[in-house]
Amino acid sequence: MAEGKIFIFDTTLRDGEQVPGCKLNTKEKVELALKLEELGVDIIEAGFPISSPGDFSSVEEISKAVTDVTVCGLTRAVKKDIEVAAEALKKAKRPRIHTGIGTSDLHIKYKFNSTYEEILQRAVEAVKYAKNFVDDVEFYAEDAGRSNIEFLARVTEAVIAAGATVVNIPDTTGYCLPHQYGEKIAYLINNVPNIDKAILSCHCHNDLGLATANSIAGVIAGARQIECTINGIGERAGNTSLEEVVMVLKQHELGLHTNVKTELLNPVSRLVSDTMRMPVQPNKAIVGANAFSHSSGIHQDGFLKEATTYEIINPKEVGADSSQIVLTARSGRSALAFRFKNLGFEFNRDEVDELYQQFLVVADAKKEVIDEDLKQLAEAFKAAVSA
Ligand code: KIV
Ligand code: ZN
Repeated sequence: MAEGKIFIFDTTLRDGEQVPGCKLNTKEKVELALKLEELGVDIIEAGFPISSPGDFSSVEEISKAVTDVTVCGLTRAVKKDIEVAAEALKKAKRPRIHTGIGTSDLHIKYKFNSTYEEILQRAVEAVKYAKNFVDDVEFYAEDAGRSNIEFLARVTEAVIAAGATVVNIPDTTGYCLPHQYGEKIAYLINNVPNIDKAILSCHCHNDLGLATANSIAGVIAGARQIECTINGIGERAGNTSLEEVVMVLKQHELGLHTNVKTELLNPVSRLVSDTMRMPVQPNKAIVGANAFSHSSGIHQDGFLKEATTYEIINPKEVGADSSQIVLTARSGRSALAFRFKNLGFEFNRDEVDELYQQFLVVADAKKEVIDEDLKQLAEAFKAAVSA
């Protein structure tokens, strides 16, 4: 395995699809899975097969449709779940079963009314049972973010000994701070004797807006898989956003890389947003409508002199439309002249000064000054000059 390779485990179709109000049918899921494969993700979590006949058939159809990517089905640590997932994954070229159980004191007490020893036993049994069907078994320790770290280490060691190839450390409630999440991963790497037999996976939720930061802290500490969704969709405040972690790893020289074709990030984001009927917030990093828009005069002036003064990513690198110079009452003369020029109007400095005063009147009355407004301004100005 390449040292710094980070496996991208896309769970848009499972955890992402748990977002209220965006149920996908099998045909839509297959279409999205094919796009995710083209994007270059390593693993697609296609669904939770026992949860419904629809989810079963989505996992089955995705297993048939994709060729290169690993297809994963979620289960609880329950034999029937594992059997059904194995059946749904039968046609997959690279099947993975993702099984697990809650490991925090809260989950053990309130969800399972159980004990550490019983949970440990169920975890091991689930992994062993899943190994009867597939070689690749991922174990998740639900609510690992709030689990006792010594117990988490015991569970990790036991499930690896039982055959788990990946151990997922979910911050299910989005509770951890980045340094805390990184320390958990480091603790497991330093204290679990058989840790080199499996890889650790980061699965972070965004309840405090820290899912991306936590996932990055996790891989810096030594985890080698990130679980994420397109546009960061998912339950409550969502999951780690795929486009964000991929671009963080590309922008910073951490010695870590993914196989994602970044120029497909915006097209895939739009496809997911349209198919799920889930709009992307305009200020969303990488894929939001404003991610490459400049509207204040100071920024616009710098950007027009040299784009890298205010842009750390070239929009082409992530498949976005070219950068926008948006005209508002905060814009300056250079942006106004630039936009006039794009519309075919060349004005000298004095003329731009005069037009700028008229522009400000329009800009104060409107949120954004658009091409139509500029054409009217320019034509009225020319008519006045030649009268
Ligand atoms: O957030 C979580 O803990 C999960 C697990 C089921 C992997 O989604
Ligand atoms: Zn989750």
